[in-house]
Amino acid sequence: MKRILVTGGLGYIGSHTVVELQTAGYKVVIIDNLSNATMDVLDGITAITGKRPEIEILDLREKEAVNAFFKDYDDIDGIIHFAASKAVGESVKNPLLYYENNVGSLVYLLKECRDRGIDNFIFSSSCTVYGQPDTLPITEDAPVKPAISPYGNTKQISEEIIRDICNVSTIRSISLRYFNPIGAHESAEIGELPIGVPQNLVPYITQTAAGIREELSVFGNDYPTPDGSCIRDYIHIVDLAKAHVIALERLISKENKDVFKIFNVGTGKGSSVLEVIRAFEEVTGSKLNYKIVDRRAGDVISVYADTEKANQVLGWRAEKTMEEALASAWAWEKKVRGI
Ligand code: WQD
Repeated sequence: MKRILVTGGLGYIGSHTVVELQTAGYKVVIIDNLSNATMDVLDGITAITGKRPEIEILDLREKEAVNAFFKDYDDIDGIIHFAASKAVGESVKNPLLYYENNVGSLVYLLKECRDRGIDNFIFSSSCTVYGQPDTLPITEDAPVKPAISPYGNTKQISEEIIRDICNVSTIRSISLRYFNPIGAHESAEIGELPIGVPQNLVPYITQTAAGIREELSVFGNDYPTPDGSCIRDYIHIVDLAKAHVIALERLISKENKDVFKIFNVGTGKGSSVLEVIRAFEEVTGSKLNYKIVDRRAGDVISVYADTEKANQVLGWRAEKTMEEALASAWAWEKKVRGI
């Protein structure tokens, strides 16, 4: 049975990916520094799969701790690397934290991979590298625009670092560029649990519906889109998690001819903020309290994926609908709040 290291495995995307890895028959060890998750998530994963993943609480910036980890776990067959800081606004205020954590840690991790012959490396990237695309839907060949935040820049730099080491080592890597992950596992045992005020749309919606937040602020309805609100590609978290297992299997089976390959992981469908609100009201049968406010700095107008490459080459396709994702997000919120 192959053993996979999942860094940031207690996070929102990480935990859902651990579930899919275990379900696919992999042994999983998690590294997490608990900066954005609690050990309750491990209980949730175990409740779903019946298998408690091994876990080491450590920070990837601690080189010695990382080195000691790989001495202990000397049978890692692949790594899925999620651990990173990911708040766009915070990255603007504190760029060095982002470069140290997101880029510095990646370099240490890749050194261990190179020195220990760990050749299969999946990277958690983001559609944020595209900025505001010139054409839509956006393909992987679209130009990577100058990043609009240090967070986005760390994703761009990281992809270049990975490509460079793959060119001169036996490491083979796939970078998955996520669009907007939403929803939760159908069991409601794991889900998105933002610390503090949610930055992202769907957790803010569910917290408003749960009465935790007074009302949702819609950041602008004067954009050049059909209903004036921004458009995104919202993908069910479980579809996204499954893409990681498929990508990992492609590396392990050495199907990946290229040393480094990038895939968009989205649904290929754009939905506006107001469409998401309407879909949520449909799903829950209740009106959502929201108001239109000014635009949020840094928001792109519209971005959604061309998923042809992921569908045809990776052999993965999003299967769940927006409504399923919103229903699962609401079920999770109610579970967490005891509603
Ligand atoms: C979606 C839409 C907002 C909150 C971010 C990161 C990106 C990635 C995914 C990590 C936008 C609107 C939001 C609210 C609103 N994260 N909105 N009211 O900005 O597309 O992407 O998360 O990789 O890097 O940038 O997602 O959910 O914040 O916003 O009107 O309270 O919802 O303006 O149009 P975003 P989001």
